Amino acid sequence: MNKKIFAANWKMYLNSNESREFMLKVNANKDLFSEFDIMIFPSHTAISIVQDLAKEFDNIKIGMQDCDVLTSGAVTGSNSITSHKVDSCIVGHSERRTIFNENDELIKKKLNNCLDKIGSAILCVGETLDEKEEKKTFEVIKKQLSILPDQIRGKNLDIAYEPVWAIGTGLVASKQYIEDVLSYINNLIKELYSVEDRPNIRLFYGGSVDENSVEELSSIALLDGFLIGSASADFEKFKNMLNKMR
Ligand code: PGA
Repeated sequence: MNKKIFAANWKMYLNSNESREFMLKVNANKDLFSEFDIMIFPSHTAISIVQDLAKEFDNIKIGMQDCDVLTSGAVTGSNSITSHKVDSCIVGHSERRTIFNENDELIKKKLNNCLDKIGSAILCVGETLDEKEEKKTFEVIKKQLSILPDQIRGKNLDIAYEPVWAIGTGLVASKQYIEDVLSYINNLIKELYSVEDRPNIRLFYGGSVDENSVEELSSIALLDGFLIGSASADFEKFKNMLNKMR
């Protein structure tokens, strides 16, 4: 079983002080946290704190949870992909799609900005419960992936399959279900990109991943990593997940 990437989406769970405390514990468990490829997406205000406390770790990358559609200008309260020096940025998360009414057109612009400016992004896709019950999963994912750029040479693009009904609900999608969707996504990628460019794309799963599900899901061959919300913002839970995968 190959080792999976752990991408921690801290959402609005940890303030700057709590982020610092979390990273101090990571440093106190250096052996464990050095064994895995880890990405951490803190609140914007905690990015530099987390970066500073991760500097001893070559394997820990830091990203933004979202960015503005513009790269600079008069946008009060916003952050552009160039506001912080980061390794990646999440775009199209379902919370942005629903709470902030972001559509595919806007997400496409954000994605292109990330790929142009920092050469990296995580694009989230996934169906709602209604869409799942109406058997529209593939249709929804195909539409959400229709914004992918023609060229990804020299870029890193992570596609996170995150069924909306699994996010923050405790309902993890079954292994078989994830395998089916990832193989659908993989086939779309094969149609879009050349053999040389395909390794630039990694596939993640997100939705209620925790220490109880991580082991079983890790056996999914097409899966490169996990995008984890609440269990990644709780130090003991994060540690337990890594310990399970050692
Ligand atoms: P969850 O969130 O692990 O809390 O379900 C995942 C995500 O939203 O990326």
